[in-house]
Amino acid sequence: MKKLLFLCGSLRAASSSRATIRALETSLNGKCAIDHAEIATLPFYNADITDDPNVKRLIDQIAAADGLLFVTPEYNYSVPGLLKNAIDWASRPAYQSVFKGKKCFIISVSGGLLGGVRAQSHLKYILNGMLAQVFVWQEVVITQANAKVKDGVMADEAVIDFATQAAEAFIGSL
Ligand SMILES: Cc1cc2nc3c(=O)[nH]c(=O)nc-3n(C[C@H](O)[C@H](O)[C@H](O)COP(=O)(O)O)c2cc1C
Repeated sequence: MKKLLFLCGSLRAASSSRATIRALETSLNGKCAIDHAEIATLPFYNADITDDPNVKRLIDQIAAADGLLFVTPEYNYSVPGLLKNAIDWASRPAYQSVFKGKKCFIISVSGGLLGGVRAQSHLKYILNGMLAQVFVWQEVVITQANAKVKDGVMADEAVIDFATQAAEAFIGSL
């Protein structure tokens, strides 16, 4: 069974990104093994820190995964700093990091009408820069995401059907 690692770009308890991950965990049940990257505990990137256990854990999780599924909001037209920090940690050594050749897919969310499409585009560019392989499919952007969350889970059926189709295609490509 292929291993999928979720990377969530939001720490909020009521996060619509996290709610989307919860819904996908249910819809993908039995179709892949799922792990979650712990990025909240990472220090800010500092090349002088060479032995942080949380950094090691993140790199090990990425290495062990067949595919990475990012679910992230857009912050000020780009990728949240929290997520960029995690990516920066795992991106060294440049062009030879654990991201090299790693298959990735992105789902973006926003409270507004654009669904985080700018963050999604920036994240693709960042992943390309690390020689990761971003899976090509229709873009999954979840607009007005907070209004679609019920009891901590993304509850919009059409949204989750579409995101699940994308995730299944991604898993099939791993
Ligand atoms: C610091 C900050 C910046 C934001 N910038 C944007 C933005 O550029 N575009 C956008 O569509 N939404 C923006 N938002 C709104 C987020 O889309 C919204 O808060 C979303 O629900 C956050 O994702 P989450 O529910 O997973 O926490 C911003 C929110 C915050 C807190």
